[in-house]
Amino acid sequence: MKLETVLKPNLYIRDIPIYGDVILAPMANYSDMPYRAICREYGSAMSYTEFVAVEAIKYKIAKVLKRFVYDPQERPIVFQLFGHEIDLFLESALVAQEIGPDIIDINMGCSAKKVARRGAGAGLLKDPQKIGRLVNTLVMHLDVPVTCKIRLGWDEESLNYLEVAKIIEDNGASAIAVHGRTKVQGYKGKANWHAIAEIKQAVNIPVIGNGDVVTVEDIDSMKNQTNCDAVMIGRAAIGNPWIFAGKNITDVTFHDRVQLIYSHLDKMTDFYGEERGVILFRKHVVKYLHGLIGGAKLRAKLMRCTTSAEFVHEVVGYVEAYSCDC
Ligand SMILES: Cc1cc2nc3c(=O)[nH]c(=O)nc-3n(C[C@H](O)[C@H](O)[C@H](O)COP(=O)(O)O)c2cc1C
Repeated sequence: MKLETVLKPNLYIRDIPIYGDVILAPMANYSDMPYRAICREYGSAMSYTEFVAVEAIKYKIAKVLKRFVYDPQERPIVFQLFGHEIDLFLESALVAQEIGPDIIDINMGCSAKKVARRGAGAGLLKDPQKIGRLVNTLVMHLDVPVTCKIRLGWDEESLNYLEVAKIIEDNGASAIAVHGRTKVQGYKGKANWHAIAEIKQAVNIPVIGNGDVVTVEDIDSMKNQTNCDAVMIGRAAIGNPWIFAGKNITDVTFHDRVQLIYSHLDKMTDFYGEERGVILFRKHVVKYLHGLIGGAKLRAKLMRCTTSAEFVHEVVGYVEAYSCDC
């Protein structure tokens, strides 16, 4: 019997049951299909794609649409879009919906200048009324639930998260993920979990808390401090997908890290092809090796590998040299 037929969902996003309450965050250049599938297998409750520009969807740019390729096992799968023109957003969301996501999410948190300055991503937070119109338009025309991922406001002087959260809810969105920082903060300072708690108190749709969850213990702390419905983890999951299985990286064995290096590399070359897969895997392997004896030396060698055979050869040599010490 499938687990999901006996377990009770932790939450619903409209009519979509979510089993589990810890979720891999959308992360450009990281949360691709191979990595999402790994995290989902380890316990992430659902998958979010990295953000995709509505302009690129409209023109069906193949390289960009690859970000919407998913493994059916990842479901529920959320496609995240960013843009600032409502008509274009809708047109592209309808195209994206055809590819079969369970949910479409609007990015209202990207702080990158080229995104936020033209009014997309966190730029939308400057215009709550427009957020209302955008959410409403998508909710009216899409079949799948619409969700939003926000920050707390543009800067400390314009903390409008409660207003924005209410508008999002009133216009029919089905959940809000909240990164507890402002656009101007970027990734500096500490995420404000108190603000996430305030949002949770103010709305009736599920609230997904995000920001600075680094350890397994932090997951419970965030839940306790904010009462959020689920916790979203970004940076701390890079190099440690085991966090979704309740393990801190310090508790992951050498053997498990090496096995994951092999299997993740396989997934990357299957998905991107040999050369690109190996190159794109480098940033992950650096994280998997972090803190291991001899890891820095191996890292330097792996950065020069261009085929998976070379890569595996170096890792095998490393395992032979170090497996007893770790
Ligand atoms: C490399 C990187 C890429 C990111 N890309 C996205 C993205 O595409 N969409 C999005 O909503 N947030 C994106 N974020 C923000 C994360 O989803 C998350 O909100 C942020 O990292 C805070 O969570 P953390 O403290 O657990 O990392 C990105 C963050 C990082 C570090």
